[in-house]
Amino acid sequence: MTNESAAQFEELADLYEDMSIWPFRRCIETPSVLETIGDVAGLDVVDFGCGAGTYARLLKRAGARRVVGFDLAEGMLHSARRRAAEEGLDVEFVSNLDAQLKGSFDLTLGVYVLPYAQSQADLDSMCSQMLAPLRPGGRLVTLPIHPAYEPEPTYYEPYGFRMTADRFEGAHEDGARIKLDLFFQQRYDASVYAQYWGRDAIESALRAGGADSIEWRQPRAHRVNGDPPPLAELDAYVRKPHAAIVVCRRA
Ligand SMILES: C[S@@+](CC[C@H](N)C(=O)[O-])C[C@H]1O[C@@H](n2cnc3c(N)ncnc32)[C@H](O)[C@@H]1O
Repeated sequence: MTNESAAQFEELADLYEDMSIWPFRRCIETPSVLETIGDVAGLDVVDFGCGAGTYARLLKRAGARRVVGFDLAEGMLHSARRRAAEEGLDVEFVSNLDAQLKGSFDLTLGVYVLPYAQSQADLDSMCSQMLAPLRPGGRLVTLPIHPAYEPEPTYYEPYGFRMTADRFEGAHEDGARIKLDLFFQQRYDASVYAQYWGRDAIESALRAGGADSIEWRQPRAHRVNGDPPPLAELDAYVRKPHAAIVVCRRA
């Protein structure tokens, strides 16, 4: 099973795995997500839109009990299974979220997946699919495009990517189509298409899917392995991150 939005990722597993060490992900996004999640020891987790499984493996290594990575792109799942096996990690990777998984997880993590909803109906369905595996009180942590992202296409170039809205003036309208070019240090040359969804659209989709206590958090720079973050280099990103962190609970 795949869809048009996920199909564009079939060949991008290596890129997304390598991207986890790009400075904005390594020093800002990943530690901010882990700080938001807190201790995962003993938790059952779904990595929704897991890609090459970078977070799924990270959470398993951090002590999560059961980790299920879900993605629609078989190319991503294939790479995710191989990488987990190479590390000897017991992580399941699936292409559909079975009804039997419903209501039994503590946490769903969905990093950079909401922007691939192609319509409001798709956004509603994605949010309800992300919430369905959770037991009541379980948490969803997800990263949509930031409501205050900078629409000037060159702004994020120092961080390895460019975001170009079809219409600059409509860059913050629900459903605005955005071309994401990925080229960090000229080592990559790939483009994917995403959609911008605003705060109201996302919150209403989350509520319709059964969420409450919705909070928006700002990613911030962290020390990594004891090293201070390169603040000067990351400054423009920290001021206007391209993604926000949304946390909510299944009612
Ligand atoms: C930008 S990548 C992010 C991958 C991973 N979460 C990461 O942080 O590296 C988006 C992923 O979401 C997947 N995806 C897109 N639409 C999806 C959907 N409706 N259901 C599940 N996965 C989806 C894509 O196949 C792709 O692997």
